[in-house]
Amino acid sequence: MRPIIPDYLAEVLGDVESDTSGAPAEYIPELAAAEPERLGAAFAMLGGEIYGAGDIDIEFTIQSISKPFAYALALSDRGFSPVLAKVGVEPSGEAFNEISLDSKTGRPLNPMINAGAITVHSLTGAEDLTPAERVERALQGLSAFAGRQLRIDEAVCASEMENAHRNLAIAHMLRSHDVLTEDPGSVVDGYVRQCSVLVTTRDLAMMAATLANRGKNPLSGEQVVSEAVVRQVLSVMFSCGMYDAAGDWATQVGIPAKSGVAGGLIGALPGQLGIATFSPRLDGHGNSVRGVSLFERFSSDMGLHVMEVPAASRAIVRSNHVVGHGPEALRVLQLQGGIGFAGAERIVQEAESISPSDIRVALDLTRVHSIDDVARRMLLEVARRLTLNGHDVYLVDPESVIPDPKPGDGGRVTLLDDVNRAASHTATVGGGQTG
Ligand code: DON
Repeated sequence: MRPIIPDYLAEVLGDVESDTSGAPAEYIPELAAAEPERLGAAFAMLGGEIYGAGDIDIEFTIQSISKPFAYALALSDRGFSPVLAKVGVEPSGEAFNEISLDSKTGRPLNPMINAGAITVHSLTGAEDLTPAERVERALQGLSAFAGRQLRIDEAVCASEMENAHRNLAIAHMLRSHDVLTEDPGSVVDGYVRQCSVLVTTRDLAMMAATLANRGKNPLSGEQVVSEAVVRQVLSVMFSCGMYDAAGDWATQVGIPAKSGVAGGLIGALPGQLGIATFSPRLDGHGNSVRGVSLFERFSSDMGLHVMEVPAASRAIVRSNHVVGHGPEALRVLQLQGGIGFAGAERIVQEAESISPSDIRVALDLTRVHSIDDVARRMLLEVARRLTLNGHDVYLVDPESVIPDPKPGDGGRVTLLDDVNRAASHTATVGGGQTG
C-alpha cells in the first residue's frame, strides 16, 4: 500500500505551489538571497514517525521559531516567577520588531516579540553564565527539542548583526528600564546567534512534536522541559505566536504556532502531533505566505482546530446491572473508554442512584483505557462514600489503570482482576480499613 499521509502532503503542497506572492525577508541580506521556490511540509507524530513531502531536509535558520523554545528553557532554568517578572504574556497586536514595552514597568508584553525574546535570551541558563555559555545553553536546549545536535549558521548571523540596529535599540531600551542587566550588545549578539541555528522542516516538526508530547521528545525519549512549562509555552504561542495576525490565526487555524522570517512555520497540537512547513516568501506580518495557506488547509481538512468540540464519546457507563442474587448479588457499574472530569461526573450520578439494599457494588474498569487525575480522585471518593454508606466496594482493574487505589478516610475497596471473581477476594486495600 502506498503511504497515505505523504501522498496527502504532496497533494496539498501542489495546491499552494503556484502562489508566488510575498517576498523573502530583505532586512537580513543572507535571507534575501534564499531560494524562494523551496517548499516542504512535515508531520511528526508522538510515536516518533515523521511524514513529509517536498524540501523537508533542506537547512535554513530557525529565526523567531527559536523564541518559544528559548522561553521554555528560561522557564525551566530560572523558574516561572523571575521570567514572568521580566516578560509579560499579553498579545501586543503589533509587529514582531516593534519597540513596545509596558509604559510603566518597561516590561516587554510577551516573549514572542523581539523585545520579549531578547530578554528571554538573557534568562536562559544560570544567572552567572558568560554570553558564550548562554548561547551554548540555548543551542543545546534547541538540539534537545530537535533530538539531534544543531549548529549555528555564522554567515546568516554575521549578516543580521550588520543590520541589527533595531534590535540593539530595543535592547538599550530594555537596559534603561533594568529589564536587561547585562551589556545590550552582547545580549543581542546571543539572541541573533540563537535565531541563526540551522534546522530542517523535519527538525522543526520534531521540535513541535516535543511540545505536543508534554515536553518529551518522541524520538530520543528525553524529557526536555516539564509539562507545566509546555502548557505556558503553548498558551503564549496560541495568543501571541503569529504577532499582529494572531487573532486571524486563532480563529482560522486554531493551532498554537510560531513563524520565522527564514520561512519556517510550526504548529503543536497538544496530544496529537507537531507540524512544520517551509517556504521563504513572507507576508506583511513576517509569516510565510504558503506556510499560512498550508496550515489553513491542514486545520480544515483534518479538524485540527484546538477549539473543535470532539464528537460525543461513547457512554462512560457501559452498563449498570446486577449479577447473582440474594446476599451474593453484586451491583456492577461497567465503565469504558478514557475517563476525565465529565465522564467521572456521569459515574458519580450513577453511583448516587445505587439503592442501599445493593450491598455489594463493583466498579468495573476492565474496558477503561485511561483515567486522568481528577477522574481517579472522584472515583476513589465514590468508593469511599459508598463504603461509608454501608456498601462493600469492589474495584475490578485488571490493567491497573488506577495503580494505587486508596480511597482515603473510612473508605475501603477490594481489588479484583475479574468481575466474576467477586466472591473470592484477591486483595484488600483501604484508608480507614473499616469493616
Ligand atoms: O529578530 C529578528 O529580527 C530575527 N532574527 C527574527 C525575526 C523573526 O523571525 C520574526 N518572525 N517572523
